[in-house]
Amino acid sequence: MKVYFVGAGPGDRELITVKGARLLEEADLVVYAGSLVNPELWQELRAEKVDSNHLSLEETTRIMMEALAQGKKVVRLHSGDPALYGAILEQMKPLEEQGVEVEVVPGVSSLFATAAALKTQLTLKGVSESLIVTRPAGTTLEEDERTSLARHGTTMAVFLGVDRIREVVQALDRPSDTPVAVVYHASWPDQKIVTGTLEDISSRVEEAGITRSALILVGGVVRRSGFRRSHLYRSR
Ligand SMILES: C[S@@+](CC[C@H](N)C(=O)[O-])C[C@H]1O[C@@H](n2cnc3c(N)ncnc32)[C@H](O)[C@@H]1O
Repeated sequence: MKVYFVGAGPGDRELITVKGARLLEEADLVVYAGSLVNPELWQELRAEKVDSNHLSLEETTRIMMEALAQGKKVVRLHSGDPALYGAILEQMKPLEEQGVEVEVVPGVSSLFATAAALKTQLTLKGVSESLIVTRPAGTTLEEDERTSLARHGTTMAVFLGVDRIREVVQALDRPSDTPVAVVYHASWPDQKIVTGTLEDISSRVEEAGITRSALILVGGVVRRSGFRRSHLYRSR
């Protein structure tokens, strides 16, 4: 008895791993994580499909356990990479307690699809060598550390925050001319990129009508300039 936790990638159906795509083809039951998983990935599968969006943890566990008891192959499909804001451990624990093995198949996170959309690096010599991945407080998180984390001056990726963009960026303790990009639906056909600074990004995002499914990337890497050459490709 085994459940595969598979990263679906950021949206583009070609950005799932070969292994993830094979497991989907072989699955009898696919429990997918709502609208952030491209329907093209699961719609045509022979498997039974269940949207976990409005299900409780207990319901999801029960559905997967029932399928396993019938000898079915079960895939739990998460957007991007399951290790980022995927809440997979709380799903694994009750399965493991009932003797089910779990396997995680990584995926391309929207973080990397965002960098790709912006044609930039998240770590860039002379600009920022480190990356902070975070999210604002909200329904499922009581307190966050945005203000102090921003003081490090590194590249910062903020998930799950575009619906409160004004409040999110106001709390960041960085100069007002710090570059910011908001990428909606990175890698999807309707991808949108809005760029600006901490000062004006909120108005620009509001004007663009982006209220969900977007990543906020803060820092000099957004500008794609001011970097130094790495030692990797220096002339010999
Ligand atoms: C519950 S988290 C899941 C993140 C996912 N595990 C990943 O690695 O991308 C959902 C948040 O991820 C971001 N997100 C997911 N897919 C996205 C995409 N294609 N483009 C931009 N942001 C995306 C948004 O911030 C969204 O609110």
